[in-house]
Amino acid sequence: MASCALPLDSGSAIATPLFEAIPHRQCSRTEYDGQPISAAERHLLTTAGTGDGVRVVMLTQPTPIETVVDYVVRGNTAQLTNPAFRQELKTWIRFNDGVAKRTGDGLSGRTTGNPAAPSWLGKLLFKLLLRVQPENEKVARYIRRSAGIAVFVSDQNDRAHWVEAGRCYERFALQATALGIRNAFVNQPVEEANLRPDFAQALGLGTGRPDLVVRFGRGPEMPRSLRRPVDAVILPPSIPLSPEVN
Ligand SMILES: Cc1cc2nc3c(=O)[nH]c(=O)nc-3n(C[C@H](O)[C@H](O)[C@H](O)COP(=O)(O)O)c2cc1C
Repeated sequence: MASCALPLDSGSAIATPLFEAIPHRQCSRTEYDGQPISAAERHLLTTAGTGDGVRVVMLTQPTPIETVVDYVVRGNTAQLTNPAFRQELKTWIRFNDGVAKRTGDGLSGRTTGNPAAPSWLGKLLFKLLLRVQPENEKVARYIRRSAGIAVFVSDQNDRAHWVEAGRCYERFALQATALGIRNAFVNQPVEEANLRPDFAQALGLGTGRPDLVVRFGRGPEMPRSLRRPVDAVILPPSIPLSPEVN
């Protein structure tokens, strides 16, 4: 990857379709309409999702889609039967709007279409209702009702490529938003480390490393996730950055 230092200069502001899409972008965790998108739309998404050492593989045919279903279900099963995963997931779920607004972060139940509940009841229901089989059936249906799956594939496993994969995804998501196309992550096959190499091989990705897996299609907008204020998420300069992680 090339790095370059360009001198900053004043210029006039340009509002591009991707810029205009920023406030409207969201992860839409709901069922899509099962319709394909056009070849022109697919081309725009592919262009937006391609970067320096990162490409986006667009899967729309039944055979590779079923491969994705298979690996997402395997990853989902591993996660939902892992007590540590369930415990952490529970800490990130905001079971009602009051808690969601107070924390300003996490997964608000409203973004997945779940009814609000007091936290004590939500935690109880979480234990009772987050069951492997129904969750697997739901995620399989969500994938099959998508127009396709986008897999972001990096040439290398290093920090520069992790960041580039994120940039490619964000541009893809903004382009999708500009076209009225929704998206949501189905990352289970890359979050479960032992599944990732087999997933790459099953999709014929060669030496490429799948970093993010995203379903896309048309469907309803969902309630928005909340944000903490910018001041709450910017590190003051006195705090040292964490040491090398890879
Ligand atoms: C790198 C990355 C990975 C993510 N992986 C998942 C995921 O596996 N499952 C999921 O439901 N959401 C995933 N998310 C989505 C976040 O939960 C979502 O962006 C957050 O809730 C904010 O909501 P918004 O993007 O709709 O504003 C991921 C987001 C990022 C940036």
